[in-house]
Amino acid sequence: MSQTITLPGLIDPHVHLRDPGQTYKEDFLSGTSAALAGGFTTVMDMPNNLTPITTEARLQTKIDSARRQAVCDIGFHFGTLGDNFAEFPKVISQVMGLKIYLNITTGGFIIDGAKLRGIYEAWPEGKPILLHAEDDVSDLVWKTLKAVSKPTHMCHVSSRAELEFVMRAKDAGLPLTCGVTPHHLFLSEKDADQLGPYGFMKPFLKPQADQDFLWDHFAAIDIIESDHAPHTKEEKDSDKPPFGVPGLETTLPLMLSAEAEGRLTRAQLIERLHTNAARIFNVPVDDSTHIEVDMSEREIRNEELLTKAGWSPFAGRRVVGRVSKVILHGETVFVDGKVLVKPGSGRLLP
Ligand code: NCD
Ligand code: ZN
Repeated sequence: MSQTITLPGLIDPHVHLRDPGQTYKEDFLSGTSAALAGGFTTVMDMPNNLTPITTEARLQTKIDSARRQAVCDIGFHFGTLGDNFAEFPKVISQVMGLKIYLNITTGGFIIDGAKLRGIYEAWPEGKPILLHAEDDVSDLVWKTLKAVSKPTHMCHVSSRAELEFVMRAKDAGLPLTCGVTPHHLFLSEKDADQLGPYGFMKPFLKPQADQDFLWDHFAAIDIIESDHAPHTKEEKDSDKPPFGVPGLETTLPLMLSAEAEGRLTRAQLIERLHTNAARIFNVPVDDSTHIEVDMSEREIRNEELLTKAGWSPFAGRRVVGRVSKVILHGETVFVDGKVLVKPGSGRLLP
């Protein structure tokens, strides 16, 4: 007998849906379908498209594409290389936050650290700044936040040093929150050898001791964010595999499995996958949005995924939890692996 549980619609503030520019990897229809299959009713898309989203015109093209295709609620983070401040006031009402890359990753979309302070000063109040900032740039982040105190979300914290930094910053009263990905919670350097390019992402997988530290200090983690970063198998098998792994469809079952093992409580799961992201990114929440999850045990299988990537670093893993139904704003939008609504029926945020 399988049990079904009900959860609020999950919120993922960190996905890369590749639309426009690289829709062979993912597009707004496939990416938001994968979101529903994973229990996410709101996603926020990152700006590192093939042509980075650094102007209002490019943002508009992206929003238009999402308006035609999205089947869940979706918002967008703006991008910057430190030379587009005139665009900030034009886009501020149309985005959820500003993403800044301080370390190299897919797309080579990285700023010179010297520009960070100026960007912080230029970004209008009211919408958070998201940082890709690994351990090597933590001093710069600290100095910048001390000088310009704007709400900042540290993406994909993956190591002991990085989480300790966040904890110190919070203790010091700096306006910092952080996210951790499921791959950093459930995979380590040991898996990297076996996974090869399929375990290759930024930040890299870390030693077991770092993963243990993340679990031991779970209270300091605000959000579990998938960092859904789809790439094709051909790209991953090539001589220069790109960084990134898909995650929208595996995040919830991994977290429910950890809950079943006693590693976190149901309340903590809901906070990390819903409540905290709603608060940090000002996502409207609505009592008529929820998901139903069949708690039978099952195996993660590539063939069942809706992401165009068609693979997961967690394939073969036994988990509990499969999203059986999604109710979005009172409408049943997903049942047993099938999206029931027309492309474009998702709402655009904010
Ligand atoms: C992301 C991607 O593929 O866009 N890759 C990754 O390894 N996480 C970019 C990013 O978020 O760093
Ligand atoms: Zn990312």
